[in-house]
Amino acid sequence: LHSRLTIDPAAAIGPIDRRLFGSFVEHLGRCVYDGIYEPTHATADEEGFRTDVMDLVRELGVSTIRYPGGNFVSGYRWEDGVGPREDRPRRLDLAWHSTETNEIGLDEFASWLEKVGSELMYAVNLGTRGIQDALDVLEYANLRTDTAFARQRVANGRPEPHDIRMWCLGNEMDGPWQLGYSTAEEYARIAGQTARAMRQIDPDLELVVCGSSGAQMPTFGEWERVVLERTYDEVDYISCHAYYEPIDGDLGSFLASAVNMDGFIESVVSTADHVKALRRSDKTIKISFDEWNVWYQSRYNDVDKITDVDTWPVAPRLLEDSYSVMDAVVVGSLLISLLRHADRVTSASLAQLVNVIAPIMTEPGGPSWRQTTFFPFSLTSRLARGQALRVTLDSPTYDTAVFGAVPVVDAVATHDEATGDVSVFLVNRSLTEEVELSVDISAFGAIDAVSGTTLADPDVHAANTLAEPERVAPAENTSVRREGSTVTITLPPVSWSAVTLG
Ligand code: AHR
Repeated sequence: LHSRLTIDPAAAIGPIDRRLFGSFVEHLGRCVYDGIYEPTHATADEEGFRTDVMDLVRELGVSTIRYPGGNFVSGYRWEDGVGPREDRPRRLDLAWHSTETNEIGLDEFASWLEKVGSELMYAVNLGTRGIQDALDVLEYANLRTDTAFARQRVANGRPEPHDIRMWCLGNEMDGPWQLGYSTAEEYARIAGQTARAMRQIDPDLELVVCGSSGAQMPTFGEWERVVLERTYDEVDYISCHAYYEPIDGDLGSFLASAVNMDGFIESVVSTADHVKALRRSDKTIKISFDEWNVWYQSRYNDVDKITDVDTWPVAPRLLEDSYSVMDAVVVGSLLISLLRHADRVTSASLAQLVNVIAPIMTEPGGPSWRQTTFFPFSLTSRLARGQALRVTLDSPTYDTAVFGAVPVVDAVATHDEATGDVSVFLVNRSLTEEVELSVDISAFGAIDAVSGTTLADPDVHAANTLAEPERVAPAENTSVRREGSTVTITLPPVSWSAVTLG
């Protein structure tokens, strides 16, 4: 197959916000306990954090990290997780049918974030709690005042405020699985009131209101309209969440998941802008795509879910998906979709970070390793700088059951005006065919060096596992050539690639 691409610095979509490369740590399964925190591990630091995991988190290149949930947050009492450890209660976590020991809470997590160099994005509980709880945790986290919660933080050994800028107003409040889920009207009222109250403490906070928990929800669209109509002036972002998996073995549609993500983002943008017009507002709402990934959710629902009334394990193995080469290609294509909407999606979180549907896996007392999905994320985070560029693409199509005809190739480019560096991110969705791609770079003037990296494997189901942690890795794509103002590259079937020009 052949495909042609033209890239041009004049076709700028918008600046790439570093927050696009965020992730998510929920108190869920072994994400926190036996994931980032394992005090008995050989690599643990003085606070019990695994330094091998910290090294991988830094290498992954994650900006903002959403915490502490997720579904977990809708039953969470933040104050359980601060102060002397011996006084912290063990609690039922209804979201994941587990026991929460509260060994890790806000202060410890903030300290871990400092070590890995990421920013905290904090979700408040609007499921079983509300305005007062949000105000209390905001005071505890951010203020220097001589008042009860701020003093408590100082007494707990954290004299400096955590200065959390981004706050999520609850989590997936449209979902019947969510503790305290509600109608759009009910949620809009509590979210708007909470936002307004939080701004009475600090008007400069960046607040994220919950959008639908997925575009498949029956209330999708209407939820966004109602919630934004009632909260528009109080919030900065609306959230999007999307997870993808092959349904009934339909790999062609799975590889085209970014088509769904594109449509989802564009629908939410349209709805937000419709509300903007209705309100004659000058303000534009941004999107926080604060949960996205490949997730074999059917496996959790059908196999792993704990329901027994007497069984509430600590840090059970939940949602520990093992990711294949094909899954990584889909993750790479979802990053292309996010970059394509960089003008409106200015924050995003790969859900999640460690062990739970994660790019990083750990074994208690044992090694940590990179899943296949680690690579497109870390390379995109490292290379996508400056402006995202709209590309002109001429690609053959293939038929999918879900989306109809879909381009075999998908692509986006980025251009760092400061350094002159250009990157092109590419996927070949064909299950069987190589693609010979030619890229017209004439709009860029002088380009000296050209190189390419590709993630692909003759076995698209190959994965990195405890037994074989380095089975899959990206490799240099030696087919890349430049002749004058044309770059050519061969894209293997089911592959993700990054081409850099500089
Ligand atoms: O990331 C796993 C779960 O997916 C989150 O807790 C929830 O918000 C979503 O449904």
